[in-house]
Amino acid sequence: MKKKIIVLPGDGIGREVTSEGKRVLEEIGRQFGREFEFGEGIIGHEAIEKTGTALPDETLEKLRAADAILFGAVGHPKYDNDPSLPVRPEQGLLKMRKELGLYANLRPIRLFDELLGASSIKPEVLRGADILFFRELTGDVYFGEKGKKNDGQTAYDMMIYHAYEVERIAHKAFQAARARRKKVTSVDKANVLESSRLWRRVVQEVGKQYPDVELEHEFVDAMAMKLIQQPRRYDVVVTGNLFGDILTDEASQIAGSMGMLASASVGDSVGLYEPIHGSAHDITGKGIANPLASILSVALMLEISFGWKSESEAVVDAVRQVLKSGYRTADIADASTPKEKILNTRHMGDRVVIQLTQSTVPSTH
Ligand code: IPM
Ligand code: MN
Repeated sequence: MKKKIIVLPGDGIGREVTSEGKRVLEEIGRQFGREFEFGEGIIGHEAIEKTGTALPDETLEKLRAADAILFGAVGHPKYDNDPSLPVRPEQGLLKMRKELGLYANLRPIRLFDELLGASSIKPEVLRGADILFFRELTGDVYFGEKGKKNDGQTAYDMMIYHAYEVERIAHKAFQAARARRKKVTSVDKANVLESSRLWRRVVQEVGKQYPDVELEHEFVDAMAMKLIQQPRRYDVVVTGNLFGDILTDEASQIAGSMGMLASASVGDSVGLYEPIHGSAHDITGKGIANPLASILSVALMLEISFGWKSESEAVVDAVRQVLKSGYRTADIADASTPKEKILNTRHMGDRVVIQLTQSTVPSTH
């Protein structure tokens, strides 16, 4: 059966990187005899310009009917520099997460050995690090009551969690840990926050159902330090929306670059796959963005939404081979990278596609 995929390029470098992700999907289709039907939707700044809203109903309808979503990025400097604008590109992303019930955001921190030199952290600290973050995605300060006083001198965002929200993401984390190194680190700020004490209590309760999985708790401030001090200590990390947002940007340095980090958002229905990086307007249109995060997001889609493990591994292997061959985009190049091996977005996509045609043994399903 054909898999219906909606591509949401969004803003900034979103279009450049999702184009390469889509090409990799098409190549997987050819190599493995899989069929995809592609559609496109608008979101973010582009949608605001065209319709006045950041996530038009028309887009949402397409998404609800899809088997998977490949998302790029949203954002525009115009809004960053003017906090008074009421309609903002990020609202499109947040509404999409909420409407589609995408409560679990998986962010695997995978370090390719070839990129040990690309990080500003010492190679001996990084080698072997392999962390899977579960960031809760539809609760917390992101969605709690917010408001401002008329005098413009006071504003608030409520940090709020319900037990069922903590419970369902905790289950996902423990289940994932069972297939990995059987350790869960839950991150909160339970020494200060009531919502974190609820978080910790519920995670402990859920943990009792997984006696084979070790559970530890960290405060978010300590975690921010330990994560880059001893990244190898961690296996599965589960945390709230805001802490997860911050810690995974930090953790991207363990993978060498933001340009390498893929993510999957799953929950009640359709899955959404996106790089963790943003719209990067500073490099938009230059064609130099790293498409590997989008391509690795495609690998997550193949495995998580479709259960196609071989196809997913083929994509990851192709990326590894391309890196082994010395090819880099500018963000992951280092002093030892020869100029001719620094590729632009399109050429990096080409390399992965070529690698797929060379290394995949075609099979029929
Ligand atoms: C992310 C992004 C978003 C978030 C922004 C764009 C709203 O930073 O996906 O990590 O804060 O969740
Ligand atoms: Mn973020």
